[in-house]
Amino acid sequence: MHAVTGSEHLRIAVLASGEGSNLQAIVDAIARALQRANEAGIASAEFPLGIYAAGEATAAAREVRDRAMIDRLNDDRIDLVVLAGYMQILSTEFIQAFDGRIINVHPSLLPVFPGLRAIEQALESGATETGVTVHYVDEGVDTGPVIEQRTVPIAKGESLDELTARVHAVEHELLPAVIARIAAQRRTA
Ligand code: GRF
Repeated sequence: MHAVTGSEHLRIAVLASGEGSNLQAIVDAIARALQRANEAGIASAEFPLGIYAAGEATAAAREVRDRAMIDRLNDDRIDLVVLAGYMQILSTEFIQAFDGRIINVHPSLLPVFPGLRAIEQALESGATETGVTVHYVDEGVDTGPVIEQRTVPIAKGESLDELTARVHAVEHELLPAVIARIAAQRRTA
């Protein structure tokens, strides 16, 4: 996926392993611009862990798989790696290879409610608000420096489905907006 930034392109890799609704939000925001510039062409590749697992422990397979991803993203001269619902732990080697160039979207106001089931955690805690965080990725789980956060109030008696839908809608605005800003900053750098 290549975001047009004037005469320059920001070369973006999106890693996703869930429903892909955040990927769709990015595509919607960026692909129209690409189409307009007549430069559309979104490359994709799959790295299923199974093909790297023969005879190896899972952790070792993940290292090998992530090395293959590093090679591919370097071949594609990727500037920015976007984790869009990527529910897997990246190897240290991968994080170091793209240090400061990996961003993630998380459905809470980090550092509150990190990890899995963040929206459920917020609802069960009785909190009156939660939100969305886009942050740089470091070697911890949901711990890297925050780029931008948006608050989502929790209505009294709101169901998990309702809150999830509202949090996702905010994710789908915030993540493409942050990517666009990074692209713009790169253009003026
Ligand atoms: C999103 O809520 C994201 O913040 C979290 O996993 C979910 C993925 O959704 N990490 P999708 O695959 O983008 O639809």
